[in-house]
Amino acid sequence: MFFRILRWTGLTLLAGVTLLVASSCTMLGLNYASLDTGNKSAPVPALDIDRLMTPDGRAEAMKLLEDTMYGPWPQGLPVSMSDWRIINANYLEGRGTLEELDITIGLGPGAQTFQLVAAFPKGALANPLVLSQTFSGNCDVFPGQPVTSSAGDPCTAQDINSTANFIVNNLFGEFIAEAPIEKYFDAGLVYSSFHAGDFVPDSTQLAPKTMAALGGEVNPTSALMAWAYAFSAALDALEKDPRIDAGHMSVMGHSRHGKAALLATIWDPRIEAVIAHQSGFAGASLSRSPTGERLDRMAETYPHWLAPGAQKFAANPSLLPFDQHLVLALIAPRRVFLGNGRRDVWSDPNSSFRAAQAASEAWAAYGVRGLSDGSMRTFDPGAGIVWWLRLGGHSIVEEDIDAFIRFLTAGKAPSAVVPPAELPSLPAPG
Ligand code: GCU
Repeated sequence: MFFRILRWTGLTLLAGVTLLVASSCTMLGLNYASLDTGNKSAPVPALDIDRLMTPDGRAEAMKLLEDTMYGPWPQGLPVSMSDWRIINANYLEGRGTLEELDITIGLGPGAQTFQLVAAFPKGALANPLVLSQTFSGNCDVFPGQPVTSSAGDPCTAQDINSTANFIVNNLFGEFIAEAPIEKYFDAGLVYSSFHAGDFVPDSTQLAPKTMAALGGEVNPTSALMAWAYAFSAALDALEKDPRIDAGHMSVMGHSRHGKAALLATIWDPRIEAVIAHQSGFAGASLSRSPTGERLDRMAETYPHWLAPGAQKFAANPSLLPFDQHLVLALIAPRRVFLGNGRRDVWSDPNSSFRAAQAASEAWAAYGVRGLSDGSMRTFDPGAGIVWWLRLGGHSIVEEDIDAFIRFLTAGKAPSAVVPPAELPSLPAPG
């Protein structure tokens, strides 16, 4: 009993200290994001929508992103893959299978191999796909399953650090690491994910070296672009699978991986929709915004996320020839979900909303609905740009997952060939 109390006191203290540290370095939960956009400036420069709608205008805009912030999309960097291996043929008590394959990106000794895991609902045939890129290793995303760990052997109980997970889950939400596969199955979705750091490590020292050694004619020079390319490599494997509908493939990422997901969607036309949850600076938030993290702080702490030449723009964003409303506009007319937390001031929801408002023109130019008329409180899961704002901070919680699924299934009947008795009905979109 005494040791139990001691353990809980220790854990609580540790959680408190971690919370304090996290609060001071990310301003997590200390404030509320402003919901007033009328008193703040509209994004500059204004979009030249007519030009952007032409193939040359689009190519020019993408080149601008490459030349200033993200470095090149590594076009043609070789991708190869193994066949699927069954990890669990009776996954979630027979609701589906859990499978894994190896993806290799690059050529020669510097090529990188990582594992793509997929959960297929039973009887899947041309089901919609959601592909996620994760912070956590595959052992934490699929706890209790013998998927391959970052060390290359099957995950065991030893790979799970329950104290660390307890703290992380309390700080960053129940689903920051673990994927809620039941929920995706309920919606008839195939869920697949990979750990971004298994391809290019999230490290200022290691990322540049790893990228430079990939052996392509064009290698990425920013981790965000490299991770974006990994989404594309994973789709090469997934689109061939008859259990997946190649016309309904969405990608998703949280925070730094939300930034990468937006880039992947611009460069890879196979992506039908994107969830960028709390993507922040170099994602959906405006580089010129003086609130929240700011681009200069991000570029200082995580220089490897951006191309080396981006530092001068980060130090003085007014030099940038674009702002992030262009990033969003380049996704039109495909669908984008921007997730936000009211207390996640760090990722600056207010400037993301203004970016979305300005980008909405691009959807209108295609004759489709962009951002719903309304305020930062309006959630319209069927819109072209879907704005989601909940209470709370920088995290992935159940409410977020439910909102993601409403976005992913809006207007679509679930196509899983799972007997109806096993498939709870979906909440009606809208
Ligand atoms: C840090 C960083 C953000 C980033 C976030 C994340 O807080 O400052 O820019 O989005 O990490 O990836 O969780």
